[in-house]
Amino acid sequence: MELGAPLVLLLATAWHGQGAPVIEPSGPELVVEPGATVTLRCVSNGSVEWDGPISPYWTLDSESPGSILITKNATFKNTGTYRCTELEDPMRGSTAIHLYVKAHPGPLHIILEPTKLVRIRGEAAQIVCSATHSEVEFNVILKRGDTKLEIPINSDFQDNAYKKVLTLNLNAVDFQDAGIYSCVANNAAGSNTATMNFQVVESAYLNLTSEQSLLQEVSVGENLDLTVIADAYPGLQRYNWTYLGPFFEDPHNLEFRTQWTTYSYSFKLHLNRVKPLEAGRYSLMAQNKAGWNNLTFELTLRYPPEVSVTWIPVNGSDVLLCDVSGYPQPNVTWMECRGHTDRCDEAQASQVWDDTQPEVLSQKPFHRVILQSQLPIGTLKHNMTYVCRAHNNVGNSSQFFRAISLGQSKQLPDEYLFTPVVVACKKKV
Ligand SMILES: *[C@@H]1O[C@H](CO)[C@@H](O)[C@H](O)[C@H]1NC(C)=O
Ligand SMILES: *[C@@H]1O[C@H](CO)[C@@H](O)[C@H](O)[C@H]1NC(C)=O
Ligand SMILES: *[C@@H]1O[C@H](CO)[C@@H](O)[C@H](O)[C@H]1NC(C)=O
Ligand SMILES: *[C@@H]1O[C@H](CO)[C@@H](O)[C@H](O)[C@H]1NC(C)=O
Ligand SMILES: *[C@@H]1O[C@H](CO)[C@@H](O)[C@H](O)[C@H]1NC(C)=O
Ligand SMILES: *[C@@H]1O[C@H](CO)[C@@H](O)[C@H](O)[C@H]1NC(C)=O
Ligand SMILES: *[C@@H]1O[C@H](CO)[C@@H](O)[C@H](O)[C@H]1NC(C)=O
Ligand SMILES: *[C@@H]1O[C@H](CO)[C@@H](O)[C@H](O)[C@H]1NC(C)=O
Ligand SMILES: *[C@@H]1O[C@H](CO)[C@@H](O)[C@H](O)[C@H]1NC(C)=O
Repeated sequence: MELGAPLVLLLATAWHGQGAPVIEPSGPELVVEPGATVTLRCVSNGSVEWDGPISPYWTLDSESPGSILITKNATFKNTGTYRCTELEDPMRGSTAIHLYVKAHPGPLHIILEPTKLVRIRGEAAQIVCSATHSEVEFNVILKRGDTKLEIPINSDFQDNAYKKVLTLNLNAVDFQDAGIYSCVANNAAGSNTATMNFQVVESAYLNLTSEQSLLQEVSVGENLDLTVIADAYPGLQRYNWTYLGPFFEDPHNLEFRTQWTTYSYSFKLHLNRVKPLEAGRYSLMAQNKAGWNNLTFELTLRYPPEVSVTWIPVNGSDVLLCDVSGYPQPNVTWMECRGHTDRCDEAQASQVWDDTQPEVLSQKPFHRVILQSQLPIGTLKHNMTYVCRAHNNVGNSSQFFRAISLGQSKQLPDEYLFTPVVVACKKKV
């Protein structure tokens, strides 16, 4: 072993009483990994002194008879020659050791900028590929697809690292400049690659998209987020979310949140506990050099049905009318139960009619659908309860109807939605 000989020599001189101190571990050279704990001990019969690039990279632990240098995290700053000298020896015998902290063979650090690039044909563009490492032996190249680009390398040494930079400058890009660019660096330890996409377009563009349906339906009181993505080059000059009606005359601006990355924006409109007058059209409008564009949502609110039953005589026979509103369009069912009962559903009913085609009185966008269902019953039976029930996917609602003869009118609590009619009057009409 190479290091063996000097050690023997040092010990030999010490035995001859010439006062040279002994360094442990023995020299003349010590190679360690970065981060290692290194202890250099100087052993002597008298007091000694260490000499070298000591402060502040070491701690000095003085204890007789040795004097100990310690570092718990060796770095390249600990690399150097350390000499230990015998202070009381008139010959000033000394011993030295060279400590070498290896550069870390860590990965090559590379940067390819920008990470994404769009240009209109004829515009200028710059792509920079740089690689950094503590050892100078490495290569770096810039490729478009599989083609290596011939670009001179600029080298630099900064912050204890070697840096090699390739800069591609294009004065007027054309479609053939577009593609996937890779910055590839390699050394003995391996290689590292970064890629980016360069897109060349014919003209400015502004694309608005949403992952959501443009036709939205929520129930009153629910929350709703509407999100639009704008892909644009060049960047947007103006944008807003606007309510376009129909419930307010003037379009008004809305508060929203914007996030953006390179060439892409996300606009999120939050509607909190939606109220009836907030149904309508919501438009994200944006402008760049390509012009104005918009993406417009239609928000329809869902309402549970409301029903109201009335009686009319038609040509001498009785007809019950059920006015229903709600959205989506409710379906209507009539039921007839014997007696004056508060419970009248399919289970109790003596007759059930589904009105498959109620008359649609009104069906305007963003409003409730208004329907009317007619039940011609010929002659109203006095000892009967009639119920109109409307049902949609938000809920259901029903109203009772009873014929009561004069003088026997009886008030029922409101919650029964009881509509009395004085049948006796009918005959006199
Ligand atoms: C210390 O002194 C003794 C006796 O003189 C000698 O044998 C020994 O080698 C010395 N040790 C060192 C490290 O100088
Ligand atoms: C050792 O030093 C390096 C460089 O200063 C530092 O990054 C690392 O965190 C240190 N490690 C410990 C365990 O202190
Ligand atoms: C924008 O839309 C146009 C036309 O729909 C399409 O050709 C183009 O690829 C889109 N651009 C982006 C960046 O989405
Ligand atoms: C939103 O922006 C467009 C374009 O600037 C503008 O016409 C519109 O008035 C704006 N909306 C509101 C409510 O200001
Ligand atoms: C939204 O864009 C369409 C064309 O895509 C246009 O017809 C409409 O007028 C625009 N709406 C607004 C409010 O700018
Ligand atoms: C009422 O009866 C008359 C005569 O029978 C008829 O012409 C008319 O259409 C009827 N009206 C209704 C609403 O049924
Ligand atoms: C009304 O109906 C109830 C229940 O069917 C019955 O008990 C009662 O006798 C009826 N009354 C008349 C006057 O028909
Ligand atoms: C009425 O609508 C409800 C909810 O949409 C549905 O569950 C029910 O089956 C419908 N009834 C009829 C008779 O169509
Ligand atoms: C009507 O709605 C109530 C709650 O509002 C529900 O408990 C009931 O089951 C509904 N009836 C039908 C037939 O869907």
